[in-house]
Amino acid sequence: MEKYPTKNQKVIDWVMSVAKVTEPDEIYWCDGTEKENKKICSLLVEKGTFIPLNPQKRPNSFLARSNPKDVARVESRTFICSEKEIDAGPTNNWAAPKKMKKTLSKLMKGCMRGRTMYVIPFSMGPLGSNIAQIGVEITDSPYVVANMRIMTRMGKKVWTVLKDKDFVRCFHSVGAPLKKGEQDVAWPCNPEKTYIAHFPETKEIISFGSGYGGNALLGKKCLALRIATTMAREDGWLAEHMLIVGLKNKKLGLTSYVAAAFPSACGKTNMAMLIPPKAMADWEVSTIGDDIAWIKPDSSGQLRAINPEAGFFGVAPGTSTKTNKNAVESCRANTIFTNVALTDDGDIWWEGLTEKAPKHLIDWQGNDWTPDCGRPAAHPNSRFTAPASQCPSIDEEWENPAGVPIDAFIFGGRLASNTPLVYQSYNWQHGVFLASTMGSEKTAAAEGKTGEIRRDPMAMLPFCGYNMGDYWSHWLSMGAKIDKKPLIFRVNWFRKDKEGHFIWPGFGENMRVLEWIVKRVNGQANATESVFGYSPRYEDLRWKGLNMTEERFNELMSVDVDMALLDVKAQSDYFKPLRKQKRLPQDFEAELLLLQKRLERRK
Ligand code: OXD
Ligand code: MN
Repeated sequence: MEKYPTKNQKVIDWVMSVAKVTEPDEIYWCDGTEKENKKICSLLVEKGTFIPLNPQKRPNSFLARSNPKDVARVESRTFICSEKEIDAGPTNNWAAPKKMKKTLSKLMKGCMRGRTMYVIPFSMGPLGSNIAQIGVEITDSPYVVANMRIMTRMGKKVWTVLKDKDFVRCFHSVGAPLKKGEQDVAWPCNPEKTYIAHFPETKEIISFGSGYGGNALLGKKCLALRIATTMAREDGWLAEHMLIVGLKNKKLGLTSYVAAAFPSACGKTNMAMLIPPKAMADWEVSTIGDDIAWIKPDSSGQLRAINPEAGFFGVAPGTSTKTNKNAVESCRANTIFTNVALTDDGDIWWEGLTEKAPKHLIDWQGNDWTPDCGRPAAHPNSRFTAPASQCPSIDEEWENPAGVPIDAFIFGGRLASNTPLVYQSYNWQHGVFLASTMGSEKTAAAEGKTGEIRRDPMAMLPFCGYNMGDYWSHWLSMGAKIDKKPLIFRVNWFRKDKEGHFIWPGFGENMRVLEWIVKRVNGQANATESVFGYSPRYEDLRWKGLNMTEERFNELMSVDVDMALLDVKAQSDYFKPLRKQKRLPQDFEAELLLLQKRLERRK
């Protein structure tokens, strides 16, 4: 038998050099088989990391409870280690690569003692797709192995595709070596010494100390966004924090694909798996991806997108058959639940899953829980890791290596005031500008003042691996590379009236807005020119089956000119650090001025 499952010397040398430093008890090369998965899951059960769920209710599924200090991505400990600080830009934590490597080498010394080092070959994107990328993750966490198996195409087939080519080096350790004979804990981690470091010039990731989500499943945010953004800039494509859906007009038999970016807690998973209301049953929404899109121009100048992931790492609380039936169905089996509550009959529960909470649960920390105890049963960032193939709305093209053609980009935020339900940019440049200023309001606007907005450009604030100004320039330059430019839209499902009530019902009803978007793409819908872009009038959307008066719709679309002018000033202030670094695209200065002029004309 051969000693290694790959002949790629770069892989072998890297694995051996890491093993020399980290000193694991053994090295295990993952093959991705069902047999291996069973073995890993049994080991996790034995270690107490996994609790097997009731096989009748939740076949082949497990619950994991993390250390309460290791429950989310830690942006404050996430670093972009480019040679020059300016290349990380003002929105990222920067550290000099040499200095960071020195710090990390000290931590890595013997950090896998008493543990097994797993080597995970994985493909982000369908195997062999020209948009896909290959990574190898070294980890000392079997929990990571089990999750990576769902979230990526993982296993020995990857070696065949990789051959002797290069790959993204992804190192992960929970940072908790075991002394001889020391008993392990169910969730080993090292929150005091956590680092999630990215080296964009050498395409490496080193993550130490956390075992949770995006900190540890390195294919997701670390590779598919932070490192991939730098690859995409170099090679002329886009790596985006976007869902991808197909919108099929059943009467015409035509499907349009759109990609949409939303910051956290803005209904992204809901839109990825949207079920149209009965009155719009002539539409069908299909899912390509719920979180990340890799988008490349093909030889005809058409942008085509793949979902680089193979699973969903979805936020559990708030997900129910009412809010997102397809997500609930996706985790009916073969799912890993992390930090949700356990029912007395061995199933899972989280806030919002059912209207009424069960009378008794074991909460995410393993304690008895009753509805009156005053604590949430599931952690607010609790998750399900489920295979995308289990989603009832999965699109038949979701594994097409060539990707799907993208007709529109949608950028959403969560803004209670002064941002209309939907509008279309005047052109590509204007659309990129609109996407750069999107965000969510921290507080509602009060007394005519703009509420404080947390800007989250393209929903990429924590995920862009280089200078944000250069990222915007890259987006602008992509416009010149593509013949069939997707139209660009902004949406806002979260506008409130003076009484503080949401004006728009959201969820499935968003289909009405998506219909207008698809019709704009196909030149079949009217719009009027507004200060922000092309906007639908009342008569341009379909209202059958929804009680929305023209007056209420106009409230949803209205713009207070004085408030908008204040926001122009706020946008300009927000650009200041990039302006100072001379990395702000000149086109954006022009767009700011144009917006100001349009608003002043309305005064
Ligand atoms: C995610 C996120 O987990 O965006 O997808 O935080
Ligand atoms: Mn995300």
